[in-house]
Amino acid sequence: MAESTNDQVVVLRAQDIATIIHGVGLDRLMDEMILAIRNAAGNLDPDVTMTMERAGFQYDKPDLGLVEWMPAMELGRTVAIKTVGYHPSNPIQRSIPSVLATTSLHDTSTGALQALVDSTLLTAMRTGAASAVATDILADPKSSVVGVVGAGAQAVTQIHAISRVRPIDRVLAYDTDPIVAGTLANRLPLTIPVDNVDDIGHLVGGSDIVCTATTVDIGGGPVMPDVVHRPHLHVNAVGSDFPGKTELPLSLLRRAMVVPDDTEQCLREGESQRLRADEIGPDLAQLVKTADAFEPARGRLTVFDSTGWSLEDLVAAELMIDHANRLGVGLRTNLQSLPDDPYSPYGTLLGVDQRD
Ligand SMILES: NC(=O)c1ccc[n+]([C@@H]2O[C@H](COP(=O)([O-])OP(=O)(O)OC[C@H]3O[C@@H](n4cnc5c(N)ncnc54)[C@H](O)[C@@H]3O)[C@@H](O)[C@H]2O)c1
Repeated sequence: MAESTNDQVVVLRAQDIATIIHGVGLDRLMDEMILAIRNAAGNLDPDVTMTMERAGFQYDKPDLGLVEWMPAMELGRTVAIKTVGYHPSNPIQRSIPSVLATTSLHDTSTGALQALVDSTLLTAMRTGAASAVATDILADPKSSVVGVVGAGAQAVTQIHAISRVRPIDRVLAYDTDPIVAGTLANRLPLTIPVDNVDDIGHLVGGSDIVCTATTVDIGGGPVMPDVVHRPHLHVNAVGSDFPGKTELPLSLLRRAMVVPDDTEQCLREGESQRLRADEIGPDLAQLVKTADAFEPARGRLTVFDSTGWSLEDLVAAELMIDHANRLGVGLRTNLQSLPDDPYSPYGTLLGVDQRD
């Protein structure tokens, strides 16, 4: 947890996240993230750990986008709130990622801000890690081919995370922007052949695991066809995270066992928004808690409906704070106004005025 005194806030900037990753190692950090999310889901006690569906502002001026907040609380300890912006025009128009995020941690004894954590890379890593948790339970153990539809930032961490739980030796990639698809291999932290395909049906039919991670428009899906596929196909549907924005064909979804990360949120904005509640399977927490019971599911079509769960953000931020404290990384700064006299909000300012 954040080692902050009442008046000191731990700030982890992009450079601090990079220093931690160099110190820990990218593979090890991803392994830790996968384990931490699995443990958090598996030990979830709703009386102790509370998460809320995200909310936010959506707009179409000057460009289509949104800024949302994603809260989670460990009772008696910490509230984590990630603020996340999604602006799909960012990469092409501004050369910055579509998804930008920051997490704040607050002490529930006092309400004091404990930490601010740059969470853009962490969001990509925890999204990959959550898919790896679901994949590890649901995918055929021999899965070796991952197909990605959408080859942007999330595709990188999907492939990386899945490679930590399955013996992946080939990637099939499709993106509506061939330049993005063409650079995917260079953006991966592992050496693995990446075949760029024009025919998405070929990608779906030839993959053991498919990850959809596109910025498809609202109403623009599906991004892949419902074609003949391997009987054990597992799909991580990552890009459906907004009402009306879906990536999978409904016919495929209806045949699958669908595992939402957060059921209420998925019913509103995930793939599950087109399903009835009784067509949806166990959520991620239930899946992890009773993982052995789902071994037979490894032979059938399964879908992880990933909208992004605020618990993952709490876990990711705390993991980084633990490493920061161990490695002595990050700023410790007096960010908050904490006057000596708690009844005197003007505090020393009054003293200065009086001396004048
Ligand atoms: N589930 C989660 O927890 C989570 C977390 C982060 C991001 N996301 C979502 O994942 C999606 C991808 O995010 P990103 O950071 O990788 O964005 P990105 O901009 O880096 O990449 C998205 C890619 O999708 C491609 N694309 C758009 N429409 C397509 C289509 N119909 N078929 C194939 N490719 C298409 C774009 O050309 C682009 O290269 C976004 O919708 C984002 O909101 C989900």
